[in-house]
Amino acid sequence: MSFIKRTEEYVTNVIRECGFEIDNVTLEPSSRRDLGEFQINVCMMLAKKYGKNPRELADMIVSKLDDRFYNVNIAGPGFINVSISEKYLTEYLNDSIDNFDNLIDKQEEKTIIVDYGGANAAKALHVGHMRTANIGESLKRLASTLGNKTIGDVHLGDLGRQSGMVISEIKKRKPDLCYFDPNYKGEYPKLEITPEELAIYYPTASADAKENPERMEEVRKITALVDNGVEPYISMWKDIVEVSCKTIKETYDYLNCNFELWEGELSSLKYVEPTLKILEPYMYESDGAKVIDVKKDDDKVDIPPLIVIKNDGATIYATRDLATIYNRVKTYNPDEIWYVVDVRQGLYFEQVFRASYKSGLVRNDVKLAHYWNGTMNGKDGKPFKTRDGGVLELNTLLNQVREELSKKMDKFDDENDKNNILDILTVATVKYADLLPYRTTDYIFDIEKFCSFEGKTGPYVLYTMVRINSILEKSNISNYCINNIYSDTQRNIYIKLLEISRMLEKSYSEKTLSYICEYLFELCSLFNKFYGETNILNETDENKKLNYISMLKLVYNTCKKLLDILAIRVPNKM
Ligand code: ARG
Repeated sequence: MSFIKRTEEYVTNVIRECGFEIDNVTLEPSSRRDLGEFQINVCMMLAKKYGKNPRELADMIVSKLDDRFYNVNIAGPGFINVSISEKYLTEYLNDSIDNFDNLIDKQEEKTIIVDYGGANAAKALHVGHMRTANIGESLKRLASTLGNKTIGDVHLGDLGRQSGMVISEIKKRKPDLCYFDPNYKGEYPKLEITPEELAIYYPTASADAKENPERMEEVRKITALVDNGVEPYISMWKDIVEVSCKTIKETYDYLNCNFELWEGELSSLKYVEPTLKILEPYMYESDGAKVIDVKKDDDKVDIPPLIVIKNDGATIYATRDLATIYNRVKTYNPDEIWYVVDVRQGLYFEQVFRASYKSGLVRNDVKLAHYWNGTMNGKDGKPFKTRDGGVLELNTLLNQVREELSKKMDKFDDENDKNNILDILTVATVKYADLLPYRTTDYIFDIEKFCSFEGKTGPYVLYTMVRINSILEKSNISNYCINNIYSDTQRNIYIKLLEISRMLEKSYSEKTLSYICEYLFELCSLFNKFYGETNILNETDENKKLNYISMLKLVYNTCKKLLDILAIRVPNKM
């Protein structure tokens, strides 16, 4: 349990022993450090409730506080200021060196499915896919750090126009393949297609179909065959999806985005039938389609009915999301399902959630939530594009960042080392830049700024980590011990460490990683100040040196855990 929480429990008990009923006291970090490190602001409230003088009340409480505090004083109408005694603080921190859980407060354990990434098969990941992947991965890691059971699902977009596009392109290029021979009688072989072919097939077909209505008609026909599970089209498509997933997974792996499940629209089809059975009593026909009303009396905007089945009887995106919910509830019995998906799908998810609750597809106590994110924009403030106005592939962007970083790194003898470190650094750079703005805020992609080794950047944080690591290695100390604080700078670092639990709680309740990024920057800055002031390795006082090194170890381990939530790895050198 965190230090703050323990201390709050202690103070709450003291106040109860004084004879007052109180829920839970909070310990507020003080803005006036000279008066005290923390403030207890309950006396005015208690005084009102019990008709007493707040300062007298404060006096009474203060007289009962034990030696975990020092510099206890009462300010203004009855604010109690306290600082943390060195002994209590160091004992607690000493216990936290190898025990991150000691610094945080776990939540009540829940099962949470996180739906994020949302890649579309047969299409390359583009820059718009990055932020949902990064935020989803990190929110998942944050939830699990706080004690929840989490399951990530990529919810692959593997049904839709792209199947018709790719297959029609194969047909055009290789018309002699057995799949296209109406007289073919044998078993269909597995379709051979390389990732390189796949990368050009979709864009080529898509460009042609835009210009050419006949081609578009063919694409539509093939798409319908795939959607209806007609052979050999459905099997061809599955083979294509398999190849495509390998490529997609490589990029996600590079970004340390690890999905427990690779389910998607295609795999949800087997749950459509039981799902429709549940929805049936709530559906009605409208223009030949089957829809569910989802508007509510107190809606400020018009929420149109959700189309579940199209007028040609076919399933759509929504049908598959509902079927996916059906399976998730049945298989995992989750307490919550989070959708980390682009803001533009906001209305859609509202409709899907309402239809799910209304029909009883999910119980009312299961939380369905859409945690949308702001977009990454170019310098013109519009969604990031290539120079000729096209969508930028994610891999291209990652390569640009890698290129920029490599200009700053030249002193490596070993090419392997260099490549490895560059990969880690590239991912850290884009992730930190992506997660630093508040989740719902747009941000501008500024490669020079993000790659800088100064300021709020991934490279700055990693550089600090490497610096700490190198001192730790040189120190030759492995039995750590914190039992003394030698300077205000050091004390500030320790007080900062106490803020972790609350910072993580805030991140979690608002579902944003921005606080973690800010916190890492602040902690690293405090460390770098200490580093500038202190000759750590040449310290001759043994206990002082031991304390310094132990503090470094604590800071290092703690940052590493926080970076792990952000899915950022730490190199040993750079
Ligand atoms: N593939 C979708 C897209 O590109 C995103 C999927 C989001 N998840 C979901 N369950 N609908 O828009």
